[in-house]
Amino acid sequence: MTGRERFLAACHGKVVDCTPIWIMRQAGRYLPDYRALRRQYSMESALSTPAIAAEITLLPLKHFELDAAIIFSDILPPLAGMGLDLSFVPGHGPSIQNPLRTPKAIDMLGVPPAQEAMAPTLEAIKIVRPELDARNLALIGFAGAPFTMASYAIEGGATRTFAHTKAFMYSEPAAWDRLMVKLSGLTIDYLNAQIHAGVDCVQLFDSWVGALSRYDYERYVKPYSHHVLSTIGEKAPVIHFSTNTGTYLDLIAAAGGHVIGIDWRIPIDEARRLVHKPVMGNLDPCTLLGPWRELIPHARDVMQRIAGQSGHIFNLGHGILPETPVENVAQLVDYVHSYDHG
Ligand code: CP3
Repeated sequence: MTGRERFLAACHGKVVDCTPIWIMRQAGRYLPDYRALRRQYSMESALSTPAIAAEITLLPLKHFELDAAIIFSDILPPLAGMGLDLSFVPGHGPSIQNPLRTPKAIDMLGVPPAQEAMAPTLEAIKIVRPELDARNLALIGFAGAPFTMASYAIEGGATRTFAHTKAFMYSEPAAWDRLMVKLSGLTIDYLNAQIHAGVDCVQLFDSWVGALSRYDYERYVKPYSHHVLSTIGEKAPVIHFSTNTGTYLDLIAAAGGHVIGIDWRIPIDEARRLVHKPVMGNLDPCTLLGPWRELIPHARDVMQRIAGQSGHIFNLGHGILPETPVENVAQLVDYVHSYDHG
């Protein structure tokens, strides 16, 4: 099988010749050639220059025999198109100068078409597509899920408590609904545009939703995620990724997605029993910081829990860390591809 066939078969729970693998944040700071490019280009200019975004997307394929590439972008730029003042602060991370704190601010937000607001990323997809066709690899597009986008827009940056987001959600339920409807519409349009530009599959990142209780997920988030996932799922396979949601993975799966992305806090066989769908994951990214000999038993544990059943894409449970030795990634990719469930 080619990498693309293997990856797409696993998305649909079909039999594969070996387990497909890609790595969240695979085009990132742990790669020396990524760091070299970022010394030349700011995050903003890399995101808005299609040729550079395309080049970064392809970097990890020079180092490892991955089955898929993910387009280089970020989940936050669509917020800039809506009118939020987003910047990537070196050494700190993304920050929004005018976070949403009032219903009026929500009603002022625009919902520009992705063809305008996200044109550079869509153009980068068109550049990368023929490169991946030549290598028979899959191309993954992505967007942030409505809750994770809303929380970034309301908090304005990183948070431990999500206090602003939750206070707003509880105190202004009608404005919360209007915000989630706007974000859902924007996300559907953006993912559709990525599929149209040439991605094979899309991933919806709800990285932060695990801050909510089971009750709050069902009440304030699930209907909007369901709308996005069911609309897009008719067009292409979708990976629904979240973290810290081990106690309500059944609801995450019910919200939608062909494949459910699992973090490392729950064993993958337990997760699979909760979701009844293909799964992606779930090695702790920190295991790659130790020596290879200690990494093997962790990788083997994931493979043994899957026990040769179809419908598994190997990945980390969250993004790879900048401190990760490149050599460990190379060995992990080969280990997964040559693993014999015998
Ligand atoms: O997976 C990939 O390689 C594709 C590209 C991608 C990036 N960000 C590039 C990036 C993807 C899919 C994301 C998703 C993303 N971005 C999420 C959801 C997934 C997750 O990791 O939880 C979130 C919450 C963000 C927001 C974001 N962007 C943060 C918090 C940060 C700073 C912290 C960090 O991890 O670097 C970013 C910056 C960012 N996005 C970088 C990259 C390669 C690093 C930029 C740099 O300094 O060079």
